[in-house]
Amino acid sequence: MNKLILDNLNHIETATFPVWLMRQAGRYMKEYHSVKNKFNSFMEMCKNADAVMEITLQPIKKFDFDAAIIFSDILLILDAINIKVDFIPGKGPIVDNSEVIKNIKLLSRKLNTQKVKPCYKAIENVKKELTDKPLIGFSAAPWTLATYFIEGRITKDLSIIKSYSYKKSKEMDFIIDLFSDLISQHLINQIEAGVDLIQIFDTHSFQMDNTMHKKYSIEQVKKISKAIKKKYPDIPIIYYSKNYQFLDNDITQHINCLSLNSNISLKEQKKHFIGNICLQGNLDPYLLVEGGEIMIKEINNILKEMKNNFFIFNLGHGILPQTPVENVYKLVETVRKFKKEV
Ligand code: CP3
Repeated sequence: MNKLILDNLNHIETATFPVWLMRQAGRYMKEYHSVKNKFNSFMEMCKNADAVMEITLQPIKKFDFDAAIIFSDILLILDAINIKVDFIPGKGPIVDNSEVIKNIKLLSRKLNTQKVKPCYKAIENVKKELTDKPLIGFSAAPWTLATYFIEGRITKDLSIIKSYSYKKSKEMDFIIDLFSDLISQHLINQIEAGVDLIQIFDTHSFQMDNTMHKKYSIEQVKKISKAIKKKYPDIPIIYYSKNYQFLDNDITQHINCLSLNSNISLKEQKKHFIGNICLQGNLDPYLLVEGGEIMIKEINNILKEMKNNFFIFNLGHGILPQTPVENVYKLVETVRKFKKEV
């Protein structure tokens, strides 16, 4: 078993840095399109265990990343509580909340097994096929999931959910609490199906003021982590955020790794944490599109900054559809060449 990622998460020294990329399976790969073309919709594909397994393994076969991430989407949970989710090419996801938003007490407290089962089945199958690499499970954090649910179609500044949170704070508390439970359930189910570690995506966490951020992000991540660690204390948790207001809290006691966006200096950030927490990130995805010397230089800069740390190389955000595959090969090669000095 390739343990580069798990070792860094568990504070065990490794000679080289591990690498995988957020959204490593997807539209920049022609192999992805050949599978996707067989389906009427993205959501339908996410609920086909065979397709999910095939797509999950595509980037591993092609680029030899140090981990696979199960192919799915953070919005599968909304579909699994019977809320309509559509992915319109070029427009992003559209969520129809019109019925339940009038009476949020109607929201289901349980995941519809029929809708999430293919994801768990695919995890079991991938684990049988991929015996030498860890498999990552994932979910959104409650706030990020709520942005899609409440906004329906995401606004640039998240003005709809922000207004809702201030005007209807009791309802918002209820939704966040419910989503935390559903997310914990979904993550525990993925662990029971076989994933080796999990990542929680809080992509939209930067759009909150400090009070809201504490209540709707930090507290919820702690709650989800407690629910998971109570049952599975050894499963590492990576928390992805575009916010870096972590200084006055003990988040690092609840997670094993902080995955940060490219606007954050890893070097500055690591000073604030006691005990050398494992960090993950944070090459600008646009540099991977650009490629060439400028990309290689920045990859090496990041690695030099992190050479005495537990660290997983990744992007600051998901890989972009226009990314040339040659640049991905080059990225992996550059990271592999670099020797750590832990
Ligand atoms: O990392 C992986 O390879 C696993 C697959 C994965 C997808 N989405 C597949 C996907 C993961 C981990 C996600 C997470 C996700 N989904 C996030 C959090 C991470 C991030 O990038 O911020 C968010 C916010 C979503 C919501 C979502 N799903 C959006 C905004 C979109 C549309 C993107 C667009 O530009 O149209 C999706 C669809 C989606 N999820 C695609 C893929 C490969 C594209 C679907 C297609 O083929 O058209």
